[in-house]
Amino acid sequence: MKVKFTNLYKLIKDKKKILNKINQLIKDSQFVGGEEIINFEKKFSDFVGSKYCVTLGNGTDALEIAIQSLNIKKGSEVILPVNTWISTAESIIANGLKIVFCDINLDDYSICLEDLKKKINKNTKLIMPVHLYGNPSDIPKIKKIINKRNIKIIEDCAQAHGAKIYKKHVGTFGDIGTFSFFPGKNIGAFGDGGALVTNSKKIHDYAIRARNHGAKGKYDHKFSGRNSRLDTIQAAVLTIKLKSYFSVIKKRNKLAKIYFKNLSNIKDIGLYKLKKNNTYAFHQFVIVAKKRDKLRNFLTKYKIDTMIHYPYMLNELNFFPKTKNLKNSKKLGQKILSLPISEEHSEKEIYYVIKKIKEFFNY
Ligand SMILES: Cc1ncc(COP(=O)(O)O)c(C=O)c1O
Repeated sequence: MKVKFTNLYKLIKDKKKILNKINQLIKDSQFVGGEEIINFEKKFSDFVGSKYCVTLGNGTDALEIAIQSLNIKKGSEVILPVNTWISTAESIIANGLKIVFCDINLDDYSICLEDLKKKINKNTKLIMPVHLYGNPSDIPKIKKIINKRNIKIIEDCAQAHGAKIYKKHVGTFGDIGTFSFFPGKNIGAFGDGGALVTNSKKIHDYAIRARNHGAKGKYDHKFSGRNSRLDTIQAAVLTIKLKSYFSVIKKRNKLAKIYFKNLSNIKDIGLYKLKKNNTYAFHQFVIVAKKRDKLRNFLTKYKIDTMIHYPYMLNELNFFPKTKNLKNSKKLGQKILSLPISEEHSEKEIYYVIKKIKEFFNY
């Protein structure tokens, strides 16, 4: 049996509907802006439970514009987990702020609250938790740690569409939540795409202009912005995909459950610790494995694709601040392995992956 990591083509469920819609938009020459954008923003903010959604060119721009909107004094410190996609850190540099890497916890691979407490000081103006792999980071606890200090929160939800804590969607606890609709994400466009969500009218109004050269209407520039608009066609694709998204999460979570049930007794494998109050939206299924590279080669031999998210911690990249004493994340990139998981994988495929992992560990 061959198990692909993802098959983007197979993930497109309503192909006919989408193609008809794209055809219509081409006929109408609707490529930038318009009803489709407004419609998707409304649907996505309803889905998340936020007052506003502003669609943007990609998830990296969403992070950058989100930070810009907060008007933080240059040189201030921003704390983020060291295990994340590079964009979270890039957006801090792009805004002239200082990166402070925080360790992660090994229960869910998100920001370590003990280390976070140590890293907060009077220069800290922003914390950027990342809901990595579809696992909610504990924002209610982070808010408690911040207490009454004037520290903002931007939640990076690029991998966590549909993930919740106490039935409240991630991205709605802090000041801003940012999303990516990169094709490989749980809700993916036919190209790049992103959005931010917020309950603040001020942040919404800023982002609406920032994405369009500082202008709301034609030639109505109020500041120097950029071009970071979501294409109309992408908004239409995402609207159709969002409609059936609950079934996507359901299937992904079901497959994750099978992994948990069958891998949890293997002592050479570390798994997440699930929390009762969280709703997960498994984007990746990541294990910490002994002899990771050998396991990966073994699985490849049996035509099982795996990936690594990510092979380095950001402090290991030489252009980012070197950070010592990150106990849990030290060399984590050499131990983690992402197993196949998507709504298009069959249970049979997942059981095959499990069988081969057990075979490798002689379990
Ligand atoms: C955690 C995280 N943050 C930000 C991004 C950036 O999103 P985009 O690729 O749409 O710019 C990604 C996408 O890979 C991501 O995984």
